[in-house]
Amino acid sequence: MKQNEDSTQPQVCPYSGAVLPSSANTPQTEAKPIVMRMDADTEETTVKAPIVEPPEGSNIFYDPLSYAIYDHPYDVYKQLRDKAPVYFSPRLGVYVLSRYEDVMAAFKNHEHMVSKFGNDIDGTHDSYGKGNLVAQDPPRHTALRQAVRRVFALREILAKEDGMRLVAKELLNDMKKNGGGDFATEFALPLAFATTTRLIGLPGSKEDINWLVDHLSRSMVRTVGELGVPEDASTSNFEAEEYIHSVVQKRMDELAAGADANVSDVITQVLASVEKGKVDDDEVVGLAHLIYSASTDAPSALLTNCVAVLDKFPHLQVFLRENPSMITNFIEEVLRYDTPGQNVSRQTTAELVFQGVTIPANSRVMLLQGSANRDERVFENPDEFDLTRDFSKQTKLASFGDGIHACMGAPLARLMARLAVEVILEQSDEIRIVGFPERWVKQLVRGFSKLPIKFVAGGTNFA
Ligand code: HEM
Repeated sequence: MKQNEDSTQPQVCPYSGAVLPSSANTPQTEAKPIVMRMDADTEETTVKAPIVEPPEGSNIFYDPLSYAIYDHPYDVYKQLRDKAPVYFSPRLGVYVLSRYEDVMAAFKNHEHMVSKFGNDIDGTHDSYGKGNLVAQDPPRHTALRQAVRRVFALREILAKEDGMRLVAKELLNDMKKNGGGDFATEFALPLAFATTTRLIGLPGSKEDINWLVDHLSRSMVRTVGELGVPEDASTSNFEAEEYIHSVVQKRMDELAAGADANVSDVITQVLASVEKGKVDDDEVVGLAHLIYSASTDAPSALLTNCVAVLDKFPHLQVFLRENPSMITNFIEEVLRYDTPGQNVSRQTTAELVFQGVTIPANSRVMLLQGSANRDERVFENPDEFDLTRDFSKQTKLASFGDGIHACMGAPLARLMARLAVEVILEQSDEIRIVGFPERWVKQLVRGFSKLPIKFVAGGTNFA
């Protein structure tokens, strides 16, 4: 309050316009200067213990399961990059690479950093069938990837755009009618599932999608601070495998009865490879299951992260509405700034040296893409959200991996995110997070399982 304002008038908050409660209006008649100094008063009541220096490095601790990482990973990542770029996690017995250079080199070294034990640290792959692509190495990996290549061709993806836009509009309109809702479960997950059921060749009715959403949500449950997949999460994975198995069986019957075998969905394409002897019968369900989860958990996390950034920097909503061509830049920067797939893991088959540190053969190694994307050695001002950031060959995002396991669905994920943001910004109200979002607990995925939002008329502008 300014000195010469009329103190009898109620005070009004300059931000919300609300009348402040009377205690906040109470004039400070005799303002006493506050003296901040270590004077006798403090010394008398402070028990002075001798300083014992903690061992060096005791303030550097990375545990992907810990609450500290769950909530705020990025300051810990910076410490790792600067002080322990080849870190050994004593709790998990895994090595951790955090610098861009090392993460990208590891992705490319599929000969000495293999995927046969899955790409997660928590044993998720145990509840997947045999054809799980991310837990395979050549030559099986090559054959399985080849079997679904056509499904991911760019023209096939772009052909889905109109249908996806319609679904996105419908979902957003429903939320708008209610003034808001849970963006994660009412928009992000249903959009991802509506897309993926078409891609895979699964039934796509509302009931089917609800069932699948429920299963994915159960299978993503983990406990912060604890390693491992809770029983219900793996049961849910097994149930999803049974469900996919029944769809595969039905499709086989249809094909045997003369149905068109030239349809470009995962199940039909993989069955065609089974016919040619390139894929085994018992690999079909695991392969479809992996694609089903890969195409829904991280993409829906990306959509929620887009909304979180729009909420954090509301001016961007105005700017992007006026400059929709920048939405693609926006998506790239969200993928870097808050990477939906934070890490993957590998197993070494030989002694490997990173930053002068030797990692023994048969070691588990985590690659932190979330950290690589914030590496100041590669990205200028990495903690800033910069819409104009230029991504080149040298600054390729770590978000989708690299090498033989590089994400097959990256173009689809980018398309889904672009459509979602376009549809959000086509309407004039500001999207705003209200209440307390909840994050997915599974350490690998960063995004929100619950994201309560509201549409606010007027909203922020540049004025
Ligand atoms: C923002 C969304 C996504 C992110 C961050 C993401 C991230 C990744 C990453 C990091 C990998 C490499 C795994 C490894 O090296 O072990 C990967 C693999 C894969 N992704 Fe994605 N992904 C996304 C969306 C999608 C979508 C939409 C699909 C399918 C439609 C998909 C399908 C796959 C498949 C099939 C693989 C396995 C490739 C292989 O092992 O050869 N992903 N993804």
